Amino acid sequence: MTFKDIVIKRQSVRKYLSTPIDRDIIIKCIESARLAPSASNSQPWHFVIVDEPDLKNKIAEATVTKGIPINKFAFQAPVIVAIVVEMPKTITKIASWIKKRDFPWIDIGIAAEHFCLQATELGLGTCMIGWFDEKKVKKLLNIPSNKRVGLLITLGYPPHDYLLREKIRKPVEKMVSFNQYKK
Ligand SMILES: Cc1cc2nc3c(=O)[nH]c(=O)nc-3n(C[C@H](O)[C@H](O)[C@H](O)COP(=O)(O)O)c2cc1C
Repeated sequence: MTFKDIVIKRQSVRKYLSTPIDRDIIIKCIESARLAPSASNSQPWHFVIVDEPDLKNKIAEATVTKGIPINKFAFQAPVIVAIVVEMPKTITKIASWIKKRDFPWIDIGIAAEHFCLQATELGLGTCMIGWFDEKKVKKLLNIPSNKRVGLLITLGYPPHDYLLREKIRKPVEKMVSFNQYKK
């Protein structure tokens, strides 16, 4: 697959087979996340891989909210990964404060996408989940209360007949201008 093929093939997968995922395969995805760039090379992330079924289901439970019909698919995924936002280097903290830019959150977004693209190349499906009860997740995973969980990612094999959807995106000319901001 070319890079473009992987980018097109990556989509949010919201249906999974119960097939377990080899830890070696998960670590391959982590290896690619590890190579992501980050401000001052701070690498302000820690990945908690949840593959113990009962615990994983409790994490899935933390992604659903009564009356809001999203994220039920998380129960089907054999693995959920939680990305903890770690303290960046002091230099990045100072830069974040001076420039009013939350570098660590930008960094984990990039690492998360590296993870998802690698998973796609390996035939796995992923969905980033930003809607979850962070307090519950932290408690379940023993994450210190002063840390933030930036994202969850569901991971699993999609059903063989899971279709590649057309990407609904703004056209290039609506999202780009050369030399000056123009909309
Ligand atoms: C930061 C972030 C948070 C997201 N949170 C959720 C979520 O809680 N539930 C969900 O089903 N999808 C979630 N998504 C997936 C987006 O809905 C999806 O990426 C977008 O609609 C584009 O579709 P695609 O991923 O299939 O290309 C999230 C994506 C991102 C990047």
